[in-house]
Amino acid sequence: MKRVLRRAASKHASTLFKVVCILVLCSFIFYLRSEDRQLKNDTVIHAPRSSSTEEEEISTQVNIHEDKLIAAVLVFCATRPDALRNHLSQILAQRPSHYQYHIIISQDGNKTTVTDVAKRFVKDFKNVTHIQHEKTEIKKRNNYPAISAHYKWALDKVFKEFRYDHVIVTEDDLDIGNDFFSYFNWGKQVLNTDDTIWCVSAWNDNGGGSLIDTKRGDLVWRTDFFPGLGWMLSKELWEELSPGFPAAYWDDWMRKPEVRRNRSCIRPEISRTSHNMKLAGKGSSGGMFKDYLSKISASSANIDFSLLPTTVVQKSSYDKRLVEDIENARPFDLENTTNMEKTYNYKISYKNIRDWHRIAGKFKLMTDIRGGMQRTAYYGVVTLTLNDCRVFVVPETTYQKPSELTNYVYDSNWDKQNRFIEFEAYYCKTKKYTGKCDPHSPEMIAFFKRKGWKKRLDDWGEMIVV
Ligand SMILES: *[C@@H]1O[C@H](CO)[C@@H](O)[C@H](O)[C@H]1NC(C)=O
Ligand SMILES: *[C@@H]1O[C@H](CO)[C@@H](O)[C@H](O)[C@H]1NC(C)=O
Ligand SMILES: *[C@@H]1O[C@H](CO)[C@@H](O)[C@H](O)[C@H]1NC(C)=O
Ligand SMILES: *[C@@H]1O[C@H](CO)[C@@H](O)[C@H](O)[C@H]1NC(C)=O
Ligand SMILES: *[C@@H]1O[C@H](CO)[C@@H](O)[C@H](O)[C@H]1NC(C)=O
Repeated sequence: MKRVLRRAASKHASTLFKVVCILVLCSFIFYLRSEDRQLKNDTVIHAPRSSSTEEEEISTQVNIHEDKLIAAVLVFCATRPDALRNHLSQILAQRPSHYQYHIIISQDGNKTTVTDVAKRFVKDFKNVTHIQHEKTEIKKRNNYPAISAHYKWALDKVFKEFRYDHVIVTEDDLDIGNDFFSYFNWGKQVLNTDDTIWCVSAWNDNGGGSLIDTKRGDLVWRTDFFPGLGWMLSKELWEELSPGFPAAYWDDWMRKPEVRRNRSCIRPEISRTSHNMKLAGKGSSGGMFKDYLSKISASSANIDFSLLPTTVVQKSSYDKRLVEDIENARPFDLENTTNMEKTYNYKISYKNIRDWHRIAGKFKLMTDIRGGMQRTAYYGVVTLTLNDCRVFVVPETTYQKPSELTNYVYDSNWDKQNRFIEFEAYYCKTKKYTGKCDPHSPEMIAFFKRKGWKKRLDDWGEMIVV
């Protein structure tokens, strides 16, 4: 199956073209044909992959236009011209046809260098549009309200005014994988056939090289944790979300139980998007995730997702298989992983947030919690690879009885407990404060006041001591 799905990389294609017969050629054309690859000015637009003249000749000779629109691609940008140029170059080099994907560049504000890049692409490519949002004033150096306002405005525009049915949301700081569009075309069918899925994401939050199976470009998982970072949503979902869209931190809002309402996203084993740190800098989170993000790089797996049945992620069959996988997995010792055998899956349980932190820390998984959920969690199950084995980190109840998988309910108190654990790591474990670690205790409050740090304590947010 895996072998069938894998496509020949296009850099080998030009030599292939010279030797294979015309029938084989035709089957490749659908993929290779792309008017967008006739990049007009190499000094301005650098495509990540070179396009050979053979490809272009073929694409003009055989005019099999798949003229059905698949989705709009909404590219968010504001102040980074180089990042935007890089991102659009990749999007346009990969776009299978301008009939299938309309690119809409949404710029926050009017920075001239960014406007120039956008206009250049509008001029050079078909079905590329540039829209501009009047930038919200930034107060107290907090960029999040401006981001939310821009998102709401642009998504309203593409769904309500331009009336698209499906939109892929991207940002200028992302690099994309070779099969980005193949993935989303497939994901669109998943989105339309399973009510329990509300988004298709190209991002794996725990996608660092050692945590994933780099040979399984075809692997796709369900996740309760909204990943964002290159994701697709439908018009119906936007109609639901738009009226209540928050003034800031919109992605965390998507992770609230009352907003999510038990729906999941799908995400690939291997990320199809990655942060371009060089061109885009630290991003809004002030470099907080830098260590994690820089280890995740966009896939060059090049899978033809149209060959993958959508049932692999459809709830009933997916849940059944996951239950079986957990049932058949072997327990293992976190402290001694030396004799894991490749032919088996393994599992480890957690009872509470301290357990979770201990395990996540060991594997270098993202530890943060939103809406009670860990990143990539599905009913509390987080998966990774270790020593070439699949490992499931599962809630104690599911560990004892895997068939109870879907009865797991996230505990929203975990957000506040997690905040305490981070607080403790910062102030108590580093011996800044040596008394009993309890931010609510008079002693600790007095200590913060003495240091002139009271505001820091208040800003940390609500905590539950665990
Ligand atoms: C390409 O763009 C560069 C920079 O904008 C410009 O100097 C050059 O003349 C352009 N070349 C062509 C062939 O349009
Ligand atoms: C843009 O795409 C639509 C269909 O998706 C097509 O009808 C239209 O001709 C395209 N526009 C251009 C300028 O190619
Ligand atoms: C950009 O917008 C701001 C605020 O709307 C305005 O003051 C400024 O003159 C504009 N700059 C340009 C180059 O249009
Ligand atoms: C989500 O599922 C749980 C468990 O099945 C249920 O108790 C809860 O009411 C559901 N929540 C929403 C918002 O549908
Ligand atoms: C790990 O387990 C294996 C077999 O169970 C044992 O031989 C080995 O000594 C253990 N290593 C450590 C460091 O405990």
